[in-house]
Amino acid sequence: MAFDAAELHGKVDWRNGLISPEIFIDEKIYREELRQLFGRAWLFLAHDSMIPKPGDFFNTYMGGDPVIVARQKDGSVKAYLNACRHRGMKVCRAEDGNARNFMCTYHGWTYDIAGNLVSVPNAADAYHGELDRSRWGLVQVAQIDSYKGLIFATFDPSAPPLLDYLGDMTYYIDTWVDHVPGGIEVLPGCVKWTIHGNWKIAAEQFAGDGYHAAVTHSSSLGLVGEGMWGGMPPGGQFASRLGHGHSFVTGRVTRFDDDPLGEYNARRNAVVEDRLGPERSNMLGNFTVFPNMSGLPASANLRVWHPKGPNTFEIWSFTVVDKDAPDHVKKAQQLSATLTEGAAGTVEVDDGENWDLMGQMLAQGHQTRQMSWNYQMGLGHEVDDHPVHPGSFNATYYGEGPQRTFYRRWLEFMTTEKWPHVDAVRESGEPVDAADRADTSPAGTR
Ligand code: FES
Ligand SMILES: [Fe+2]
Repeated sequence: MAFDAAELHGKVDWRNGLISPEIFIDEKIYREELRQLFGRAWLFLAHDSMIPKPGDFFNTYMGGDPVIVARQKDGSVKAYLNACRHRGMKVCRAEDGNARNFMCTYHGWTYDIAGNLVSVPNAADAYHGELDRSRWGLVQVAQIDSYKGLIFATFDPSAPPLLDYLGDMTYYIDTWVDHVPGGIEVLPGCVKWTIHGNWKIAAEQFAGDGYHAAVTHSSSLGLVGEGMWGGMPPGGQFASRLGHGHSFVTGRVTRFDDDPLGEYNARRNAVVEDRLGPERSNMLGNFTVFPNMSGLPASANLRVWHPKGPNTFEIWSFTVVDKDAPDHVKKAQQLSATLTEGAAGTVEVDDGENWDLMGQMLAQGHQTRQMSWNYQMGLGHEVDDHPVHPGSFNATYYGEGPQRTFYRRWLEFMTTEKWPHVDAVRESGEPVDAADRADTSPAGTR
């Protein structure tokens, strides 16, 4: 049975922009989230450049579950639970590396890089030769696929293809992964830290909260650039029916006044304009691929919000550079990413403080959990037929359309048993099977 749909519909009124903070702190909702959302959505695992060679692996999470993503001998990629089939111990405790086998450190069951169980200590004596190793390989994800080097997987065999899942978001993802002929690479190293708050608060902010920057980052942006903006900067927002969001300013491609990358960026922007058109050549902003992958392309930063409980999440932060950029440019991109968006980055810590304090208030308070939060900014001002930008588009940098669609999508995942992808298919012009319709959406809405 799906989660109590009526109860959740009462907490997430995305049409009117009213959200109950209970969805950020309630343990029962969190457990359902792991099953209903993280158990079904396509989740970002890694980028091709992180595991280039056969045997390369990266240890990550899908929701609360540890997952190894590994390059196979034939160049393909597999992903499977990092949990031994004997007693569930982790079979690999390294963060990444290159391996031929993973030997569980509890009793020694050993798996190959494809996840097959290849060795069991004393199998003849202990199991009388009766253990069928072929049945006890690591649990594989149901589907794995990649988009321009970004590897995603889902635990749900009935999930739609990755491209359908990403939908219009690919138009915006391309501004970051496909803006130059050589594409991107993720530099070695993943910085991880913990926030005592709910992962959705961070994901929704990256989906479209341009509004906070001028106040939250007033002093830190002043350190590295022009600081607090007077009024709203020129820009726009994209909100996907599928929960993805992007919010960007135009005309600036760096946070630094004295830009060490200025010359490179100017040259690159000409290339980007040729490849993607003028509208996408100078977007500086932030995005979220629903549910928990986000980025700040102009700050060379990619991150994943890994849930660790209703009121705890980890930020996993990667630095992304143009693969064919000169070394000194890559270094400058890395330095800028670290100084601004690293764990102790001047900009990053501002956000973490907000998320953490909000988490404390929800954990400790009762009255503060009773009031609705206001997500009404820009309500009704989006257009769905912008001549250039796909998706629901808002021609300003301020608005909460991306957040409203994020929670609308979240609600669909939480309250439907069937895969809730129907509306996306309808919007792409393909026929819709009525039997597949999300069965708990109120009549007459889409
Ligand atoms: S738990 Fe892995 S071998 Fe026993
Ligand atoms: Fe921020």
